[in-house]
Amino acid sequence: MLPTDPTKKISFTRCITDGDLVIVYERHDAMKAIKVCEDSVLQNRFGVFKHSDWIGKPFGSKVFSNKGKFVYLLAPTPELWTLVLSHRTQILYIADISFVIMYLEIVPGCLVLESGTGSGSLTTSLARAVAPTGHVYTFDFHEQRAASARLDFEQTGVSSLVTVGVRDIQGEGFPDEFSGMADSVFLDLPQPWLTIPSVGKMLKQDGVLCSFSPCMEQVQRTCESLRSNFTDIRTFEILLRTYEVRQGKMDGNRDNGGGSLPCKRKQHSIEGSNEQDNQSSAAVMARPCAEAKGHTGYLTFARLKCLS
Ligand SMILES: C[S@@+](CC[C@H](N)C(=O)[O-])C[C@H]1O[C@@H](n2cnc3c(N)ncnc32)[C@H](O)[C@@H]1O
Repeated sequence: MLPTDPTKKISFTRCITDGDLVIVYERHDAMKAIKVCEDSVLQNRFGVFKHSDWIGKPFGSKVFSNKGKFVYLLAPTPELWTLVLSHRTQILYIADISFVIMYLEIVPGCLVLESGTGSGSLTTSLARAVAPTGHVYTFDFHEQRAASARLDFEQTGVSSLVTVGVRDIQGEGFPDEFSGMADSVFLDLPQPWLTIPSVGKMLKQDGVLCSFSPCMEQVQRTCESLRSNFTDIRTFEILLRTYEVRQGKMDGNRDNGGGSLPCKRKQHSIEGSNEQDNQSSAAVMARPCAEAKGHTGYLTFARLKCLS
């Protein structure tokens, strides 16, 4: 779970204890979440790792198997959790999540409403953003998904910051008890336009809404319904370009294909080096990842119109 200190503040300096959730990191594309249990072992291609060896070590430690191979034990931050959680639905990823949190102006102490909860990928980041004094109320009409999300929030240590409700938000809107109390509202629903009147009632004056939709037709209908009560309506598509950074042999002046870019030559001793050596020396190169994600969805933001 997200490590907390005795005052319940999130803290990454405390050591791993029995029952903690850790992210076992082999490399950036090979990670998994494991609950530490004193009598258990982790077996993988690197050998056998005893959980008992992990207890008492700080998060971030390098731990060794019986074969002398290693993995790192990282704290389950929302960023890493998003990469390892079990996908019960489509989820939001880091690029969209970061943008949502900034544009919804979410800070500690905020009250945030969300629907649907789905796999809880966004919710976990919302919870950390409002901690320690704010709260996220998230709703999904799918009981099993809501129950699984609750379990995940327990595991990741954010359950005191999140309440999961089962409710048909498109049909019934958000509960009246939140009228005029929400700093921000996030929707990831198939027909978000049905919920806009309720969102208008829930938001504080000048509160902000964000609606995520994969298709432009959904965006258009949502924007139509926003026009009467909301202002500053804007839609964004976040396209992320990821580069793979690795060390390789560079051939002199030539780009070695695939658009790779030499960023920084490795340092060599000046003595004894010559032009030819330099031209085929090892360099750190960055090239766009072949399997980079493209379109995820559109993020529509709007601010509730002030009354006076
Ligand atoms: C794509 S998922 C949300 C994923 C979430 N944003 C995440 O990052 O993990 C959409 C969720 O909306 C829920 N949903 C669909 N219609 C709903 C409704 N009328 N009321 C409440 N939840 C609904 C679905 O059950 C599903 O879990």
